[in-house]
Amino acid sequence: MNKEEKLKELEEEITADKNLPLANANLVFGEGSTNPKVLFIGEAPGQEEDRQKRPFVGRSGKLLDKLIEELGWKREEVYITNIVKRRPPENRDPFPEEIEAYKPYLTRQIEIIDPPLIATLGRFSMNYFLPEAKISRDQGKLFKINGRYIYPLLHPAAGLRSPDVMGKALRESFLKIPAAIKKIQK
Ligand code: URA
Repeated sequence: MNKEEKLKELEEEITADKNLPLANANLVFGEGSTNPKVLFIGEAPGQEEDRQKRPFVGRSGKLLDKLIEELGWKREEVYITNIVKRRPPENRDPFPEEIEAYKPYLTRQIEIIDPPLIATLGRFSMNYFLPEAKISRDQGKLFKINGRYIYPLLHPAAGLRSPDVMGKALRESFLKIPAAIKKIQK
């Protein structure tokens, strides 16, 4: 089976898993290249993502797209997904048990894609890999954990809320992704 087929199978398994929380919402599995430059992982789908069943297609997604373009890349060259793959009601933060429930699926999705670098978007995604990390202190730093390279970034929604401070910091760290990749390849 190639990566596309493995991912399709995984998506079907999630769809069939009736024990997963948030089962009333649509499944937003993730999308992009199966040999991506970077795997971006956000928190959970929002309203627009739930509607379109695609990750990061609302306002945060527009900012993410803009930053990807600034690198001279295309959205199709990366892979984008979330820790929790269905929208929590009213966009509330995901509960720990929701993160736990989706964890085995995200773990397998990462194994299948096997990206050179994982860029986490926001605190929840960062703490999924780096429980002790602090977003203000550790965003823009490269970590290696269990054989995977993790590069924490601020969430685009934070960048939108505070363009001058958070937006600027997000952009600065984002533009250093190619340098982080070079470092890994050394
Ligand atoms: N915010 C997220 O964390 N993920 C999305 O897919 C959209 C907004």
